[in-house]
Amino acid sequence: MPIHVVADTVDKLMSLRATLEPQYAVTSELLGGANSQCSESEAVVVTADLRVVENIAALKEMFGKSANIRKRIFLVDQKARLFTVQAYALGATRVFVNPVTQARLLAELADRHSPEPNSDEALHGAREAATTGAAAIASMFSAVLAGKPIDVGSAKGAGSRIADSIQEDGLCSWLETVRRHHEGTYQHCLLVTGVAVDFGLSLGLARPDIERLHSAAMFHDIGKAKIPLAVLDKPGRLDAQERALIETHPAAGYEVLKGSAGISPEILDAVRHHHEYLDGSGYPDALCAGSISDIVRILTISDIFTALIERRQYKPIMPREQAYEIIRGMQGKLEMPLVAAFRDVALNR
Ligand SMILES: [Fe+2]
Ligand SMILES: [Fe+2]
Repeated sequence: MPIHVVADTVDKLMSLRATLEPQYAVTSELLGGANSQCSESEAVVVTADLRVVENIAALKEMFGKSANIRKRIFLVDQKARLFTVQAYALGATRVFVNPVTQARLLAELADRHSPEPNSDEALHGAREAATTGAAAIASMFSAVLAGKPIDVGSAKGAGSRIADSIQEDGLCSWLETVRRHHEGTYQHCLLVTGVAVDFGLSLGLARPDIERLHSAAMFHDIGKAKIPLAVLDKPGRLDAQERALIETHPAAGYEVLKGSAGISPEILDAVRHHHEYLDGSGYPDALCAGSISDIVRILTISDIFTALIERRQYKPIMPREQAYEIIRGMQGKLEMPLVAAFRDVALNR
């Protein structure tokens, strides 16, 4: 199956072809051209200026006609939110910032040939849910940046789809798919949603409670849209000032959402308080046990576990056993009977 390459200039097209042709049969097209062959491809690599309205319209049309493309890799020109957000909104399954090395691009494309421990169908379902979820999260972040209303319905719908995927195909397919195809805050929000849903299912929660949980998880870090990427994605330790800035995100998220239709008081509470601890040492309100709801307790455990096991460019993935041991060591801060119940999610499911 050939790789299809799409670019908005001839130079970019030639350069991308030269990168891929030693390994793959490549078809290509200049954006806005008449004959698209991409519906026959399994993978498309796009490099185009996503500030240009015509480019966005042409890409929308192209992907609208070719829903079966499994891998949609976007190369964007700057590590800026606008580009990443736009790429995911267009259905990207992976976004790289230029210059991307030939080795990295080839590795991403070759990934589809690697052995997959779960059935293809399960991974396909998880991939579809992840793409919808990433697009919803990207569009929320984009709306916050632009000071526009958030599309609450799309985010909830995407959360529901993630819940279906977890219920049908399990947490392992979800972790594998999301960690493979998504990065940064999008990866984190998708993973937290999946982990929280699976935790809720393992606790035997009813569907309305699962819905509360996946909605809270989808929105929980929306306040991070206000934090510069240089701080959010900084490898290694943050200094005191950077940490203080990060710690503004729960209250910032609460402020962003509080006027939105369709956001319940429970979701608002979860967004504001998902970094609170039972012993009062959390933020932003230093709440104590009695003021922290069950849904927040479940979300907080899912959030901490996810932050430990997600894929970052600067660190290897932490094994689930090790992440669970860290959570088990947080006596006083987390509810220990819930942590004990989480063991099955963390290690086995
Ligand atoms: Fe957070
Ligand atoms: Fe989080």
